[in-house]
Amino acid sequence: MSFLNHYSKIDSATIATVAKEYGTPVYLYDENTIREKCQMVLSMPNAFGLTVRYAMKANSNRTLLQTIHQCGLCIDASSLNEVRRAHLAGIPYQDIILTTQEIPENDDRIDLEQMILQGLKYNVCSLRQLYLIGDFAKANKINLSIRVHPGVGSGESASRNTGDNYSCFGIHLSDIGQALDFAKEKGILFTQVHVHIGSGADPLMWRQNIDLELDIIDRYFPDATTVSFGGGLKEARMPYEIGADVNELGSYAKQQIEAFYQRTNRKLKMEIEPGTYIVANCGYAITKVIDKKRTGNDGFNFIIANGGMEINARPIMYGSLHPFYMVSEHGKLLSSEFDINNIAQSDYEAVIVGRCCESGDSQSLDDNDTSIPRKMIEPNVGDYFVIGGTGAYCSSMTPFNYNSHAQIPEVLFTSENTLQLIRKRQTLNQIVENEI
Ligand SMILES: Cc1ncc(COP(=O)(O)O)c(C=O)c1O
Repeated sequence: MSFLNHYSKIDSATIATVAKEYGTPVYLYDENTIREKCQMVLSMPNAFGLTVRYAMKANSNRTLLQTIHQCGLCIDASSLNEVRRAHLAGIPYQDIILTTQEIPENDDRIDLEQMILQGLKYNVCSLRQLYLIGDFAKANKINLSIRVHPGVGSGESASRNTGDNYSCFGIHLSDIGQALDFAKEKGILFTQVHVHIGSGADPLMWRQNIDLELDIIDRYFPDATTVSFGGGLKEARMPYEIGADVNELGSYAKQQIEAFYQRTNRKLKMEIEPGTYIVANCGYAITKVIDKKRTGNDGFNFIIANGGMEINARPIMYGSLHPFYMVSEHGKLLSSEFDINNIAQSDYEAVIVGRCCESGDSQSLDDNDTSIPRKMIEPNVGDYFVIGGTGAYCSSMTPFNYNSHAQIPEVLFTSENTLQLIRKRQTLNQIVENEI
């Protein structure tokens, strides 16, 4: 049996079985990986309690939401529709926090109020949001969470840094005075302070944010009982990457929250809201090799797969790298980037592109949008090209109807080693059904 990598029980035969049963392209998720990641974050050291919220924007599939919620995680939603979607999956409002750039109006506003009355936590992210919710919060004695813009952040790329002055998430420290004056006038309490510095943050910066945020609470927020450090726990997708050490970060947070207690006599509960860390490495996008080309003697080998940017937009958006696996039509593992010895023997390298009419539709890009050929065992047309690390921000974040391609199915490899279809393939009728 040839497993694709060291952390999952998905083998190459399963890849071929999924491809044959459900067609390609298709996402395959490993339930065991999700459960293990949930356990890892839930067992992070903490001083006075820990709530872990799953940032559902990473992957909003109903079955995954239910699995993660069953494991004991609450939900971080970034739009009213995400709250509705989590609730449709059976998750109670009191287990959800809303952190959004939206300003709900009309029916949405009525819905928001109803949800808050039923327990939804509201994390105000702008002065306007605060001013608009003020009277309602006062009348109903609702405590609020406040997202603070700390002025420093970190992310895997500039576009994923949400804490520095190039991004506008949260209420900037320079506006905190206005927020506090308004809250005082209305008698509103900020019982939670939240900072999210970015996605795929440098663990060192994540650690520094613990100190920064505790200092912000000490200075400005006497009513805060919870500190949320946001998401952004770095996950290693490529074999050579090093992810965040959640145990170490938890130990540091515990130590600093205990020191805060010694200084202030205030016991703070801790919250975190990882998305990537929970689901990134549970996911595999299985495509089929449909063609091969070469761009002359000075050019490259190209492999054309039947899925690219419309199933994984992260390379074209961020220059992100994902591990590649080649599996033969009959289920033999030809190459895995986790098996360096096997790849080193090969003198074949290729750029892997999708079928979209877009020269950036490539899985082999660097962050300057340059095509970088990668070593592998040469596949035949009909073999399967599998992209690893595609559990987070792939299904939930792709331009899936570009070139009128259908949104692809999602299959779960369950803890009982069975395959379960958890989302069907979109039909052509569904693509056009709202057109008039
Ligand atoms: C407010 C907030 N929390 C959590 C997350 C999850 O980040 P990650 O998937 O990097 O853990 C994000 C992602 O952008 C976010 O904006």
